[in-house]
Amino acid sequence: MTTPTRDRADDRRRRPVHDTDATSGSGSAPGPDAPLLSVRDLHVHFRRGKEILRAVDGVSFDLHAGRALAVVGESGSGKTVTARSLLRLLPRNARIADGQVWFNHAAGSRDGDQHANRGDRPGGRGRRDRGAAGPRDLLRLGEREMRRVRGRNIGMVFQNAMEAMNPTLTLERQLTEHLLWHGICGKAEARDRAVRALGDVGIPEPERRIRTYPFQLSGGMRQRAMIAMAMLTQPALLIADEPTTAVDVTVQRQILDLLVEVKNRGTGIVMITHDLGVARYFCDDVVVMYAGRVVERASTPDLLDTPRHPYSVGLLGSCVEIGDRGRALAPIQGAPPDLARRPQGCAFHPRCGMAEAPRCLTDQPLLPLGGDGSGGTGGREAACWKVVPDA
Ligand SMILES: Nc1ncnc2c1ncn2[C@@H]1O[C@H](COP(=O)(O)OP(=O)(O)OP(=O)(O)O)[C@@H](O)[C@H]1O
Ligand code: SF4
Ligand SMILES: [Mg+2]
Repeated sequence: MTTPTRDRADDRRRRPVHDTDATSGSGSAPGPDAPLLSVRDLHVHFRRGKEILRAVDGVSFDLHAGRALAVVGESGSGKTVTARSLLRLLPRNARIADGQVWFNHAAGSRDGDQHANRGDRPGGRGRRDRGAAGPRDLLRLGEREMRRVRGRNIGMVFQNAMEAMNPTLTLERQLTEHLLWHGICGKAEARDRAVRALGDVGIPEPERRIRTYPFQLSGGMRQRAMIAMAMLTQPALLIADEPTTAVDVTVQRQILDLLVEVKNRGTGIVMITHDLGVARYFCDDVVVMYAGRVVERASTPDLLDTPRHPYSVGLLGSCVEIGDRGRALAPIQGAPPDLARRPQGCAFHPRCGMAEAPRCLTDQPLLPLGGDGSGGTGGREAACWKVVPDA
């Protein structure tokens, strides 16, 4: 998680990414029973010379408290940019061009965030937690308010652990400052909590390790320290970008079991992963991204056992899962498109064995299309002209 110290430095460097001219503010706010997170028609652009690269191009999905959503897709499909947009932590050349990110903290705090609305925060300095006031569009919050949401109500595990940590500060300083800055507890308790958090993610001898600097840790250990930091404040929402890629399988299992506990306490989790085994073990629903768009949404068993979109079929065909011995891998032919020159029609058509002229080559299939139109939780949708909607 970005530490407060790092946050301040970032602020000086970071240009505001939110385009106040974004037009999608026109969508009405969801009611108090809305999902914990509701992403609506999110568009993120990068400038490349005179070209606009549409890294995220109309992404929508919902996440309910106590559930985990896997975001899968090939490298470059826009998973990280989507995740970072939720917290408005994008590179300087990125621009959120449109969309809404409704965060309904109250949905998570019913049973999840044990700090919300409690008067037992000795380090609280009277700072009110305004997170429980109903759904708020994170793309339209002021930067000060956004900084309160980041790290406290929403934790993020970054794809690159070093990016989230300050190399010049010990873990003790970073973890305790994180708690103190967000007013979670007082100084004495902060250290205890920090040590416990490191122990929870399987860091051996946490009392000793807490005095080390990030660069003194192995990659896997750093990854675990970052997960500990992201979960310190018991956020209502955790965004985890490939949280287990840098760790070995035993630690991976330990981390996943910990995340299961976190989820069972009511935290909603967005999990970006290349590992479909991780999705199967841990996630309730899956969204599949291709070239900056969601092409299929379904419950995890539906998606992994009976994928409908030809791209999802190809993605599963090119992945190895435990128990797959003997199954021939069938990688998807070709490469994803240049996002500044997306093909007309279905962006997947140059690689799709089922593509049919003229429709696939001229008309873009958009969700909801194939499936029952109800998306993730229980239902399914696929952005493909050839997937027939359920009766
Ligand atoms: N800083 C940047 N400048 C320009 N373009 C970028 C930048 N970061 C990302 N992109 C573009 O956005 C697209 C999506 O990138 P993103 O990092 O979200 O992919 P990803 O799905 O997370 O891939 P991976 O699985 O490799 O992590 C990339 O294809 C790239 O073209
Ligand atoms: S819309 Fe056409 S090209 Fe696209 S995935 Fe479906 S069949 Fe293939
Ligand atoms: Mg990524």
